[in-house]
Amino acid sequence: MDLFKAERVALITGGARGMGFACARNLAREGVKVALVDINGDRVKESARKLTEETGTPAIGIRTDISSESEVAAMVAEANAKFGRIDLFLNSAAILADNLFLESTPAEWERMLKVCLFGPMLCLRAILPGMVERKHGRVVCMASDSGRLGQARLSYYAAAKGGVMSLVKSVAQEVGRSGITMNVVSPGATNTELRQEREELMRKKMGDEKYQQRVKTVLRMYPTGRLGEPEDAAAMITFLLSDQASWVTGQVISVNGGFVML
Ligand SMILES: NC(=O)c1ccc[n+]([C@@H]2O[C@H](COP(=O)([O-])OP(=O)(O)OC[C@H]3O[C@@H](n4cnc5c(N)ncnc54)[C@H](O)[C@@H]3O)[C@@H](O)[C@H]2O)c1
Repeated sequence: MDLFKAERVALITGGARGMGFACARNLAREGVKVALVDINGDRVKESARKLTEETGTPAIGIRTDISSESEVAAMVAEANAKFGRIDLFLNSAAILADNLFLESTPAEWERMLKVCLFGPMLCLRAILPGMVERKHGRVVCMASDSGRLGQARLSYYAAAKGGVMSLVKSVAQEVGRSGITMNVVSPGATNTELRQEREELMRKKMGDEKYQQRVKTVLRMYPTGRLGEPEDAAAMITFLLSDQASWVTGQVISVNGGFVML
């Protein structure tokens, strides 16, 4: 299958690692030039270097906090200066907080919403006009099944991700006639550093024995009998960013091993 019929440039936030990086690797293998963006400047530059070394496709790393309007503007300017345009946009950047709602603070909600909802909004506002002008664009924003179902201890993360789904569906209706598709990928539990960091905290809190029980209980909820790997979500994102997906827009697609079937 010919995924990309023309030269394409992608910008991926949260691209230093995890699902963002796995998707960048798929795209670079297809010859798509990639601007990786992350708040972790050293890591994102190292990831871009690794990508170019592995695939031979040009990639750059840009340090940006996507919750900052001025940094997002500078990020888009840098990607445009290097590659001339942005055709494909993936928002994978996120933070996570494992906390009971009644034990959380407005300052914690604010940071979550700023990164996980306001961040993609700022990026879309900066990137979409170029896509509208060229009458072509592909957008994928990452959400979470917690945003579809609700999840104890993840209330304000889930609220932000629910907002991302409504945002993408709404804006997709506004820009569809400009040749732009916008979709949401909603992963189930996926084995990335984000998840590993949360699991390690849980293991420390619960003790080994209880934690191992939890691992078994979680696995039982997945009909496919395993958790996700970054490449599982990346395969779906790559398709949605490709020229093959021109009639898929405004959808929320779970990549979750059957954890929920909506
Ligand atoms: N891993 C899972 O189990 C899981 C499940 C459901 C949804 N998701 C979602 O999928 C996406 C990818 O998750 P992942 O596990 O690959 O995450 P990850 O933590 O491995 O990667 C996210 C990256 O975002 C970066 N980042 C954080 N804040 C930022 C900011 N303000 N500006 C720019 N970059 C920032 C981090 O430095 C990190 O490199 C996220 O949106 C996450 O919410 C993950």
